Amino acid sequence: MATLKFSLQNGWLLGKVAVITGGARGIGAATAKLFSDNGAHVVIADILDDLGTVVADSIKGRYTHCDVSKESDVENAIDIAVKWKGRLDIMFNNAGISGPEGSITNLNMDQMMTLVAINLNGVVHGIKHAARVMIQGKKGGSIICSSSSAAIMGGLASHAYTLSKEAILGVARSTACELGVHGIRVNCVSPHGVPSEMLVGGFRRILGRDDLQAEDVSRMVGERGSLLRGREPSVYDVARGVLFLASEEAGFISGHNLVIDGGYTSGCSQMSFMYQG
Ligand SMILES: NC(=O)c1ccc[n+]([C@@H]2O[C@H](COP(=O)([O-])OP(=O)(O)OC[C@H]3O[C@@H](n4cnc5c(N)ncnc54)[C@H](O)[C@@H]3O)[C@@H](O)[C@H]2O)c1
Repeated sequence: MATLKFSLQNGWLLGKVAVITGGARGIGAATAKLFSDNGAHVVIADILDDLGTVVADSIKGRYTHCDVSKESDVENAIDIAVKWKGRLDIMFNNAGISGPEGSITNLNMDQMMTLVAINLNGVVHGIKHAARVMIQGKKGGSIICSSSSAAIMGGLASHAYTLSKEAILGVARSTACELGVHGIRVNCVSPHGVPSEMLVGGFRRILGRDDLQAEDVSRMVGERGSLLRGREPSVYDVARGVLFLASEEAGFISGHNLVIDGGYTSGCSQMSFMYQG
């Protein structure tokens, strides 16, 4: 975890208990660190056991092997948090994969269903079992789901990935309606262009450039993938958004999608002659 310098310590999550799926690396690991810096106890649920254990040990948290496409694994991860600290306050449904890429005319339906099982079913499993224990706990809670800029604007990712992320927005809004009466907030974050293993791997495959590094991807997004020209995105840009939604600072926010994209999906700068001299 080399990027700890972006941590923001204000104790927003003092004593809170969180489960983070896909917390072994990338956005999930950065969020785990930030949650811990802010006083939370964190259970990391992932399939990358070695990486996940290192992250969990570094924040005095817990690691559990969890394939989010399997409901019983997610149920178990949540039950570990409750057995450990007696409650669950925050669920970050962050695990996800990219692909399959290519034309709709060649879409491999088996590969698509594998992606849906992880990206979408995984989130549904997380909302379902977090809600179960949060309702029992009678103290409300905050559930945050990872959608994507690809859910806002077409053409930013593969068809299968796009549909899975769009569906996450729908189920988050729908469950926010039901769970609000229990004081449980359900929100999404929609990252964009963050140079994680997933994104860098995708750029390498699509551009056919095995030599691409995270810094190259970051620079490309900073130059062409954002309205904030030159501002390079980081995993901590997303982690800070998740921290806010998890905390009581966002106590009146539910059913919301926090888009973290440098403004990319909000506008098009191709007609800038209209307002720039
Ligand atoms: N990086 C971006 O720019 C970006 C943009 C939009 C959305 N997202 C979303 O953010 C989330 C985090 O992605 P990231 O960019 O940090 O990528 P990443 O590949 O670094 O992290 C994804 C994590 O999910 C885990 N994971 C994958 N399949 C799993 C499974 N079946 N069960 C449990 N864990 C599993 C991986 O092991 C990994 O730790 C994903 O949902 C992704 O779709 C990322």
